[in-house]
Amino acid sequence: MPLQIVRNDITTMKVDAIVNAANESLLGGGGVDGAIHRAAGPDLLAECRTLHGCQTGQAKITKGYRLPARYVIHTVGPVWRGGQQGERELLISAYRSSLELALAHRCETVAFPLISSGVYGYPKDQALKVAVDTIGDFLLAHDMTVYLVIFDRAAYAIGEKLFADIAAWIDDRYVDAHTDSRETQYRRAMSAQSGVGMPASCAAAEAGEDTFEQLIARLNQLDESFSQMLLRKIDERGITDAQCYKKANIDRKLFSKIRSDVHYKPSKPTALAFAVALELPLEEARDLLGKAGYAFSHASKFDVIVEYFIAHRNYDIFEINEALFAFDQSLLGG
Ligand code: APR
Repeated sequence: MPLQIVRNDITTMKVDAIVNAANESLLGGGGVDGAIHRAAGPDLLAECRTLHGCQTGQAKITKGYRLPARYVIHTVGPVWRGGQQGERELLISAYRSSLELALAHRCETVAFPLISSGVYGYPKDQALKVAVDTIGDFLLAHDMTVYLVIFDRAAYAIGEKLFADIAAWIDDRYVDAHTDSRETQYRRAMSAQSGVGMPASCAAAEAGEDTFEQLIARLNQLDESFSQMLLRKIDERGITDAQCYKKANIDRKLFSKIRSDVHYKPSKPTALAFAVALELPLEEARDLLGKAGYAFSHASKFDVIVEYFIAHRNYDIFEINEALFAFDQSLLGG
C-alpha cells in the first residue's frame, strides 16, 4: 500500500529515509528533532553543522548513523501564525522537497512525522490533511512506500461531525460477534421456511420473473471472477489500470498479480479498496466483494465504516483511512 498511516516512534523504523521536523539552524531541538538526534548519535549533529542551515519549506539530507534508517531528511515546516501567512504552502513545500530528495536518493521507503503539528503549532487535523493530500498526489506519479507516522492519538482528530456520524452508523449496524446479526437471523428464518437458503436469482427465475436471456446473462456474471469483474469495471469507467490501482492505494506489483491470474483471490481490504477506487454503488460493491468470496459483515467495524462511506458515496480513500484509523481499524489497501 503506497501510503500507510501508522502509529509508531519514527526513530525505530527500518526504512530508507526518515524525515526530521527540524528548525532552520538544523542544530537539533525538542520533539521529533530531539528524538532523532538522540537515537542517531553525535555524528548526525556533526554532519548537520556542515549543511549551514535549511530554509523553511526546503529539505536537506544526511546519513542515519545509529538509526535503522539509511538517511535522515531534515525539513523545516512553517510556524503556525493563524493560517494567513502562507503556512499551508510552506508545509506543502516541506513535504514535496523531502519527497523529491528521497526520490533523488533512490529511497523506496520513507517515513514522515506530522510536520509542524507539535512545537510549531499547526492544527493537527489541518496538518494531517495537508500531509495526506501532498503525499497522495506525489504517489500518483511515483512508486514509493510512504509511512505517515502518528505519534500521539491527538494528532488524529477527524472532524467531530464525521466521527459522530460514523459512530451512529456503527451503532445502528454493528453487532458484536456473539449475537446473530439481523441478516443472519433473517437467513435462518428463511432457510427454516424453505429448506436450504435459496439464492435470489434462482428464486426470481423460479417465479418466472427473469427472461431466459436475462437468466443466462445473470449466470454468466455469476461465473465472472473477481479479476474479470474488476477489469470490466475499469473499462466501463474509462480509466486506466494505473489510475485505478493508484486510487485504490494498491501497489503495481499486487495489481499485476490480480490482472494476470483470473482466479486470484485478493484480501478483503484489497477488494474493498478497488470497490472504493471504482466508486461502485453499494450493490455493485457487494457484488465485487462477493466475487472475492467476501461479504460486508456487520460484526466487523471495519466493514461497517467502509459501508458508511460507500453508502454516502464518499470515495476518498485517504478520508476513509483517516476514519478507520480514528476507530482503531486496519486501513484500506493492499
Ligand atoms: N516519532 C514520531 N513522531 C514524533 C516523535 C517520534 N519519536 N516525537 C514527536 N513526534 C511528533 C509530534 O507528536 C508531532 O505530531 O512529531 C510531530 C511534529 O512535532 P515537533 O517535533 O514538535 O515538530 P514541529 O511541530 O515541526 O516543530 C519543530 O520543534 O523540536 C523542535 O527543533 C524542532 O524547532 C523545531 C520545532
